[in-house]
Amino acid sequence: MTTQINSTLHSLPLLGRGKVRDNYAVGEDKLLIVTSDRLSAFDVIMNEPIPDKGRVLNQMANFWFDKLAHVVPNHLTGIAPETVVAADEVEQVRGRAVVAKRLKPIMVEAVVRGYIIGSGWKDYQETGAICGIQLPAGLPQAAKLDAPIFTPAAKAEKGEHDENISFAEMEKRIGVELAAKMRDISIQLYTEAANYAATRGIIIADTKFEFGLDDNGVLHLMDEVLTADSSRFWPADSYATGISPPSFDKQFVRDYLETITSWNKTAPAPTLPDEVVQKTAAKYREALERLTGESLKA
Ligand SMILES: Nc1ncnc2c1ncn2[C@@H]1O[C@H](COP(=O)(O)OP(=O)(O)OP(=O)(O)O)[C@@H](O)[C@H]1O
Ligand SMILES: [Mg+2]
Repeated sequence: MTTQINSTLHSLPLLGRGKVRDNYAVGEDKLLIVTSDRLSAFDVIMNEPIPDKGRVLNQMANFWFDKLAHVVPNHLTGIAPETVVAADEVEQVRGRAVVAKRLKPIMVEAVVRGYIIGSGWKDYQETGAICGIQLPAGLPQAAKLDAPIFTPAAKAEKGEHDENISFAEMEKRIGVELAAKMRDISIQLYTEAANYAATRGIIIADTKFEFGLDDNGVLHLMDEVLTADSSRFWPADSYATGISPPSFDKQFVRDYLETITSWNKTAPAPTLPDEVVQKTAAKYREALERLTGESLKA
């Protein structure tokens, strides 16, 4: 087991640390993306790393990139991360990094929802709609939608929360054509992934994709794909409506944090008890094993 809060590579220029990933430049046109064991909940980074989480997420994303490569080009180069760092840094990247094409990020996140939960459930209760998409009245929490819906969110500046926007607003921001393309591809990616996951006894309630453009303006899928950080995974056998179903992701941590009523969901985060850390680690690993049929690679 390896636990990593921050990577500390000296052989490549650090471009930035996101909440979970550290990005380094590899030449002019590529990135080394290292997935740490940091966990963010309510957009605040927890103090305690989740053992093996970075390697689990990396393996999960790679599984989906491969499976969905026929739908849209993705950012992977196939270059082994071990080959772009110094010899004494190999352990920091093994199993938890990719060498990706450095793309121009599209500042709209592509959220697809097959079920009504989370912020979607909140919006629906208040307005009867999600991101301006009117839904039938009387749906219970966690209800399956007739067809998946595309509910874009504006990618927030560092430290801010992403903000749900309407499709019309997305068109205004990035153009009508690109918006339609992102929507159609996202729905297709979600649908194929959800159909596959169903064969593994897992419901993908919702997920978020990120896209970028290469120098020729070609749309690419980037970042992480269909991981337990970017998606809600529910075991199909305990799915029920009227509740927030148990899940293979950080809902467990979120539920714990909701019990700390004195915390106002801004940094610094409260201390996570070891039991919560260990249980969360187990959930991420279980998501990997159940979805992909693979165990965590050594
Ligand atoms: N191929 C790529 N080219 C350019 N940027 C990428 C690529 N893949 C991922 N990214 C960006 O790298 C960052 C990954 O870091 P991480 O997921 O930890 O960030 P985050 O917390 O989600 O967001 P932020 O970076 O705003 O804090 C994201 O900002 C993501 O958009
Ligand atoms: Mg991210």
